[in-house]
Amino acid sequence: MASATIPPYLFLLGLALIFASAALFLWRRADSSKRESEPVKVVKPVVEIEEEGDELDGFSNKVTVFFGTQTGTAEGFAKALAEEAKSRYEKVLFKIVDLDNYAADDETYQLKLKKENFAIFMLATYGDGEPTDNAARFYKFLTEGGEERGSWLSEMTYGIFGLGNRQYEHFNKVAMVVDEELEKQGAKRLVPCGAGDDDQCIEDDFTAWREQLWPELDTLLRNEDDVVLASTPYTAAVSEYRVVFHENPVKLLEGSFSATMENGGSVVVDMNHPCRAIVAVQRELHTPLSDRSCTHLEFDVAGTGLSYETGDHVGVYAENCHDVVEEAAQLLGHSLDTVFSLHIESEDGSSLAGNLLPPFPTPCTLRTALARYADLQTPPRKAVLGVLAAYASDPAQAERLKHLASPQGKVFSHTNSCNLLFGLWPESDRPHFQRSLFDMDEAEEAGDECSWAPIFVRQSNFKLPANSTTPIVMIGPGTGLAPFRGFLQERAALQASGETLGPAVLFFGCRNRKQDFIYEEELKEYVKKETLSSLYVAFSREGSTKEYVQNKMMEKAVDMWKLISDGAYLYVCGDAKGMARDVHRTLHTIVKQEVRS
Ligand SMILES: Cc1cc2nc3c(=O)[nH]c(=O)nc-3n(C[C@H](O)[C@H](O)[C@H](O)COP(=O)(O)O)c2cc1C
Ligand SMILES: *[C@@H]1O[C@H](CO)[C@@H](O)[C@H](O)[C@H]1NC(C)=O
Repeated sequence: MASATIPPYLFLLGLALIFASAALFLWRRADSSKRESEPVKVVKPVVEIEEEGDELDGFSNKVTVFFGTQTGTAEGFAKALAEEAKSRYEKVLFKIVDLDNYAADDETYQLKLKKENFAIFMLATYGDGEPTDNAARFYKFLTEGGEERGSWLSEMTYGIFGLGNRQYEHFNKVAMVVDEELEKQGAKRLVPCGAGDDDQCIEDDFTAWREQLWPELDTLLRNEDDVVLASTPYTAAVSEYRVVFHENPVKLLEGSFSATMENGGSVVVDMNHPCRAIVAVQRELHTPLSDRSCTHLEFDVAGTGLSYETGDHVGVYAENCHDVVEEAAQLLGHSLDTVFSLHIESEDGSSLAGNLLPPFPTPCTLRTALARYADLQTPPRKAVLGVLAAYASDPAQAERLKHLASPQGKVFSHTNSCNLLFGLWPESDRPHFQRSLFDMDEAEEAGDECSWAPIFVRQSNFKLPANSTTPIVMIGPGTGLAPFRGFLQERAALQASGETLGPAVLFFGCRNRKQDFIYEEELKEYVKKETLSSLYVAFSREGSTKEYVQNKMMEKAVDMWKLISDGAYLYVCGDAKGMARDVHRTLHTIVKQEVRS
């Protein structure tokens, strides 16, 4: 039995990390007195990401901080950790390493890891307990063939902090597996593996883990005669850029979003290189009776070079909606037409940001920056709040920011967090949680006639069984239906080509058949054509009792057990918090009950 849980279909990722928005919000102060060329003075990065070379260059020791990240949290933590460590251990060299860039093949992983004396890993878990894309090769290398290598890592002392979410069944699995494997392969564990929970406040977990780490590192890295530095508290790694406002016309740079041709002529499209795709179809799926909205979007990927398989995820970069953008510009005290650029060197040419490229292409207008690159709707990480505190002109607000950044600060909930930007959003009139695609006006400016968005594809393991006769059970209420629509389309194609199909059962759920029974006709058509063997729909807001998918599953317990006994693959997609857990429990109940009878 295979099971998988993924969240509702699309990830919407703001192009800019929170750091970019922090930098943007800092202008107001920097700008009020001096106009041109005032560097936005933020915490200076003290850690450089090193290239090849093992020379210690006068340092007493080297610590490598590896990260495996998908959306940047682990990378941010790696940088923050290295910076704090650097201020504690002046004589120690800290290197931050993207696991993917570390080695080109297994042999190199082995050669290089063998020589690491101190290694710290920040590792996120995804999918069905799987590593992030940038940690995939490392994970495969470490977990396969470890036995043959013996105790080859005996020189290494390591610490791991895992990034995960307790709502997922395989909570922090990658970190735990790596922890186990490193020890098995001879490395020495410095501290217990940390298990960060993104469902609560992962930064607090990280802080607690660091408190365990320092005393242990002290014994290894501090010499008797070292001055014990008052360690600077955890600060976000925020890059420093010089902002130049342009009053005369300049050529604006907007992201090109064209996929790049890499060696061999193949096109690379990924999170960092999205491609521009035309919206071919856009329609509302809910009926006018519904007070909510659910949009069906189809992208035309012809000619983009982008390829995908049934079950993969599409990532869509969307813009912040106009109201939010306008409000943010007002708060910053700048017109949306303000043109500015970010520079990594100061006026005299000396480097400011450790040669880190600006987070987005400039010169651009404030409108573009706020709409496309700034994340205006996610609550800032605690570390960023701490940095912002240093720039608050009002001491009371600075105190409040510091408090929020501390472990005592309230954990933000993702639904009502924007008013936490302390008066940045006046009257706590919460910005709408809505984002828009690149709209007509924009497209027209660019000489096109329709809307578009930068998109990319993320591979998933949410795949149909290789053998089409294997039965499948799909559980996907609400937008959890998305991948199953793909499955059904693929089954229809197999059917048309004459393949024999095993049974396929779908449990769908919505509020009310008159409002949000999305794709109703299409699903019924699949039942008629036997692409789908059975469709069970739970309505939660019809009649006197609330019905959910798990209730429907219970009603069909005997059938479910038969399918499971026949080796059915079971898929669950949708809200991981409530539904997936209830479905899991229900399955347990069904199995227990049916095994007994
Ligand atoms: C699609 C998806 C799948 C996830 N799967 C898991 C999982 O199986 N186990 C887990 O512990 N956390 C899981 N998480 C939570 C992430 O690991 C967590 O949010 C982490 O902080 C992300 O770190 P990153 O920003 O460095 O990529 C998942 C998150 C997403 C968006
Ligand atoms: C698919 O599964 C069926 C039933 O178990 C089996 O008879 C058949 O040989 C399998 N087909 C392939 C290609 O493995």
